[in-house]
Amino acid sequence: MKVAVLGAAGGIGQALSLLLKLDLPAGTDLALYDLAPVTPGVAVDLSHIPTAVTVTGYGKEDLNKALVGADIVMIPAGMPRKPGMDRSDLFNINAGVVKTLAEAIVQQCPKALVGIITNPVNTTVAIAAEVFKKAGTYDARRLFGVTTLDVIRAETFVGELKGKNPAELTVPVIGGHSGTTILPLLSQVAGVSFSDEEVASLTVRIQNAGTEVVEAKAGGGSATLSMGQAAARFCISLIKGLQGETVNEYAYVEGDGEHARFFAQPLVLGKNGVEKLLPIGTLSSYEQQAMNAMLGTLKADITLGEEFVKNN
Ligand code: NAD
Ligand code: LMR
Repeated sequence: MKVAVLGAAGGIGQALSLLLKLDLPAGTDLALYDLAPVTPGVAVDLSHIPTAVTVTGYGKEDLNKALVGADIVMIPAGMPRKPGMDRSDLFNINAGVVKTLAEAIVQQCPKALVGIITNPVNTTVAIAAEVFKKAGTYDARRLFGVTTLDVIRAETFVGELKGKNPAELTVPVIGGHSGTTILPLLSQVAGVSFSDEEVASLTVRIQNAGTEVVEAKAGGGSATLSMGQAAARFCISLIKGLQGETVNEYAYVEGDGEHARFFAQPLVLGKNGVEKLLPIGTLSSYEQQAMNAMLGTLKADITLGEEFVKNN
């Protein structure tokens, strides 16, 4: 098995690579690629941790070598937000980054499962899909926008509010990964009930959690450690699926298009990526209204990505 991390020297990339060095199955090759000159050093540093995962660093010129034969590619490459910015403000820089990396995936590992972390996720996933489609390699089951951070945040905040162990909670989060497109389904949390005020304030907190970190870091970037953990969890679930286990996760994928072309939803992972899409279940009237109100934004974010590839 080979896992490539693109953007491996960044805040998320280093945290994710550390967790993967610790948690990937024995015998896995972990390939770290980044434009930053420190990348080979990050790989050497990690290689001294005594696990049976081989770590290799690849610099600027070696993207193809990092990708060749990869089974899974995780992409946290690109610019993070600063206070006052929306995720969509990252489009001008990160759209090109994801397009370039997706074009290399087409050449080196067209069958890899690809997890996109780079913001704006609502749009960058559409960019990767269109690049793959143009090349004739697109398989919707193999492309994921990583929204695991929204799920773990929701579980953490519900746990805090209700005095429960977050590890024992499941909180569905559907839609997209920005502002109101992030839609937690608090009505579906088993064994917990909320007042209307709690639903309103928790929903807003989950939607603004990324901004909470951006503001607390005061110009030093966005979530890296919690995102590293979220991405590692998602990557390990992809691995388990490839190994024949059935694993339940949430991710932003191209599904049946009922709500939008790409939509974060529950799914089952297996040997080919998405094995089965699961229904989002019954929404409360609050959640239904919130979904109706955000679909226009989500669809416009997706169109932006589609148009970007068409015009470039
Ligand atoms: P960072 O600046 O710490 O790291 C980004 C890394 O990407 C840098 O090392 C940079 O050299 C590298 N890079 C830039 N262009 C590249 C290219 N073309 N090829 C390879 N590497 C390249 O940023 P970060 O905090 O790690 O965040 C990375 C991205 O993840 C941002 O876009 C951020 O908004 C996003 N993010 C997404 C989520 C999510 O839930 N999906 C959560 C947090 C952050
Ligand atoms: C997050 O949710 O933390 C990320 O999308 C980063 C950001 O810009 O908020």
